[in-house]
Amino acid sequence: MVLIGPPGAGKGTQAKGLARVYGVPHLSTGDMFRENIRRGTAVGRQAQAAMKRGDLVSDEIVVAMVGERLAEPDCAGGFVLDGFPRTVAQAEALAGLLRRAGGAEPVAVEIQVDSSLLLRRLTGRRMCKVDGEIYNIYDRPPKTPGRCDRDGGELVQRDDDREEVIRERLAEYEKHTLPLLEYYRRQGQLEEVDGSGEAAAVTRALVDAIERKEYRGRHL
Ligand code: AP5
Repeated sequence: MVLIGPPGAGKGTQAKGLARVYGVPHLSTGDMFRENIRRGTAVGRQAQAAMKRGDLVSDEIVVAMVGERLAEPDCAGGFVLDGFPRTVAQAEALAGLLRRAGGAEPVAVEIQVDSSLLLRRLTGRRMCKVDGEIYNIYDRPPKTPGRCDRDGGELVQRDDDREEVIRERLAEYEKHTLPLLEYYRRQGQLEEVDGSGEAAAVTRALVDAIERKEYRGRHL
């Protein structure tokens, strides 16, 4: 399953929930890049400047990274992709990777959220340094300020959640990812879900969308 939506749509929040529901891994390309930057790897060094500006990392780098991750054994029974693909070239590469692995075509779901909500969600976001759990100081505050409910880890703000970088990320989404929605729509692979309600309601809508289409048996 592929989750698509603008920055702050709730892809990470929903991907974590769906991965728990279906017992499959959650693969976030943003998290993978942040982990590579933290570890100082070659991929991290290549991605860092683009991420800091709010631009996309090159297709070549992201496709190679995802290809390696999908080849790991825990992906054999399905996975939730969060933030990949986000260009038509990446979607074509994903289709090729899945074909070669003998897998089914992905279910692509667009999480739709009015742009007026996105800035509040992104500037209010805090993430646990230990397990990556996502909070929001306005809408999903932790029980203890600054600490993760699950493991007590420190909550931090992402470097790219500054207003000027957020604007660039939104512009990149319009330029590169809106054509991707059209690509999946033309192929009859796109589901649309309203992401503006409470997170639990959005998860239910996503599960309904998958099961209504009888995708579950084939894809997850
Ligand atoms: P990435 O980490 O993927 O960032 P993004 O796509 O901008 O998306 P976000 O993580 O900001 O938002 P989200 O939709 O996951 O929202 P979340 O659930 O956290 O990518 C970062 C960078 O890496 C990119 O800019 C690019 O440089 C690079 N990159 C990554 N993938 C790439 C690729 N494929 N190709 C090229 N470059 C790539 O929620 C946000 C906030 O809202 C949270 O505080 C949450 O608690 C709150 N919230 C969520 N749902 C709700 C709800 N229903 N109600 C109220 N609040 C909610």
